[in-house]
Amino acid sequence: MSSIESSLDAVLHASPITGTPEWAALDKHHAELADVHLRSLFAQDPSRGETLTVETDGLYLDYSKNRVTARTVELLVALAERVRLREQVEAMFTGEKINTTEGRAVLHAALRAPADTVIEVDGVNVVPAVHEVLARMSVFADKVRSGVWTGSTGKHIRTVVNIGIGGSDLGPAMAYEALLDYSDRSIQMRFVSNVDGTDIWEATHDLDPAETLFVVSSKTFTTLETLANARTARAWLIDALGPDAVPFHFVAVSTNTEKVIEFGMDSANMFEFWDWVGGRYSLDSAIGLSLMLAVGPENFREMLAGFHAMDVHFRTAPFDRNLPVLLALLGLWYRDFFGAQTHAVLPYSHYLGRFPAYLQQLDMESNGKSVDRAGRPVSVPTGPVVWGTPGTNGQHAYFQLIHQGTTLIPCDFIGFVAADHEVRDGGTDHHVLLMANFFAQTEALAFGRTAEQVVAEGVAPELVPHRTFAGNHPTNTIMADRLTPFVLGQLVALYEHKVFTQGAIWNVNSFDQWGVELGKVLAQRIIPELSADTVDGGSGKLAHDSSTNTLIRRFREAGHLSG
Ligand code: F6P
Repeated sequence: MSSIESSLDAVLHASPITGTPEWAALDKHHAELADVHLRSLFAQDPSRGETLTVETDGLYLDYSKNRVTARTVELLVALAERVRLREQVEAMFTGEKINTTEGRAVLHAALRAPADTVIEVDGVNVVPAVHEVLARMSVFADKVRSGVWTGSTGKHIRTVVNIGIGGSDLGPAMAYEALLDYSDRSIQMRFVSNVDGTDIWEATHDLDPAETLFVVSSKTFTTLETLANARTARAWLIDALGPDAVPFHFVAVSTNTEKVIEFGMDSANMFEFWDWVGGRYSLDSAIGLSLMLAVGPENFREMLAGFHAMDVHFRTAPFDRNLPVLLALLGLWYRDFFGAQTHAVLPYSHYLGRFPAYLQQLDMESNGKSVDRAGRPVSVPTGPVVWGTPGTNGQHAYFQLIHQGTTLIPCDFIGFVAADHEVRDGGTDHHVLLMANFFAQTEALAFGRTAEQVVAEGVAPELVPHRTFAGNHPTNTIMADRLTPFVLGQLVALYEHKVFTQGAIWNVNSFDQWGVELGKVLAQRIIPELSADTVDGGSGKLAHDSSTNTLIRRFREAGHLSG
């Protein structure tokens, strides 16, 4: 047993974190700080806006508007040390099978490792295979983009439809939108995920099959939604161009060659990845093929370089100067000590519109766990509800609750110095308007507006309570010069490692997702029950609870029969 394995074992079976002196110290510290206002913290230390900041490769984090002092950070870092975070990080980066419930390594970092890196799983260096697949993807992407690869009738590919769900959809769809400005606008990407037929219908009804390429993306190649959509797409294509056209218009991305062949696709048209890549960590594997088709291999590699830069930072920077670790510790501080149930991510970039939805799977599927790695109930609340939409839209919707509601919602604000497009409203640059709001919101959330200030503004006494802002709402500000492929890679890896760090401290397995299985199994049972010609045959002998039985009968009686 290697020293990492033995220390991992110790971590796995460690007694609950709440029983440690580090937790007790944080508890005590929280009691002292809980009622301290950010106004006082800034008054006591006017330079905290300069000191409570960290930067790596141009990505800047200002965490000064959090309800913390230097002492809080020290205590949180001590907690990370207690769970041997550094060793846990090394265990991941060196290919230990830290996904214990599935017996798998967790090596998304290998997907962006330089070609001369050695990372072994079961004694085999996985890096050469990663680079082989990247090279194959690049050749294919170049062919499609240049028109060397055509449809069966010789027409150029004009639309790529990615069929996948969860990690096989959210990552590429988010990144395509984020990097739209880097994409070849003569090829359009569409993303189909939902088993609701509307999704595939809307994505294909106006397309010319002769100019359409489908990328069927599924780690397992067994996912109900993806296979249903892929079958529908194939029938649509065959209807127009005949069965011989399929190899020109379908490629697969999967870990499961057997299932790809069983589906009727040529393994030569398959791009592989491996079981040590979790679905929600797979954007930078072959699952990113649609993205590469859009932005080209060079931009894709730039994105990988951004991921890798963040990997190196995470692996080497001291915890109190480490962006992912700091975000994780601050998140845990609010989740476990202040009882915050949700965490908002608010990108002030229209191109990052899908980033919060992407993070929902990354964070909530990873840390939405209630037993620890040894199977015991966790002793503290784990992953929060993650949500958000781009600024400034949210300001005119739910920001009211963040400012004046009764719930504490820590927020990450993400913004960029440079505008993607120089657009002026006649006089003022839109980017100035956007960023003025970006800065104003974290200021308002932190400092609020006291009743005295409101009175001094001449507000009628009965309105004063309504016009007062308590403030003391914590925010992180994350800024970079511009949203580039490199920065996107940094941002995604930042949150990947944040989630890892929180999972490591909570001692949960952040890399399985058993919680999604039960619904899948029950749906399989219900599928035949919704058809007219099944066992039940409408006789009413459904064996669910009375609510589910009645709902199914109501659906059937209304004539929504699939059979
Ligand atoms: O159901 C959840 C899940 O397993 C996710 O973890 C995964 O990203 C998604 O389904 C899609 O799985 P696949 O890529 O195997 O089709």
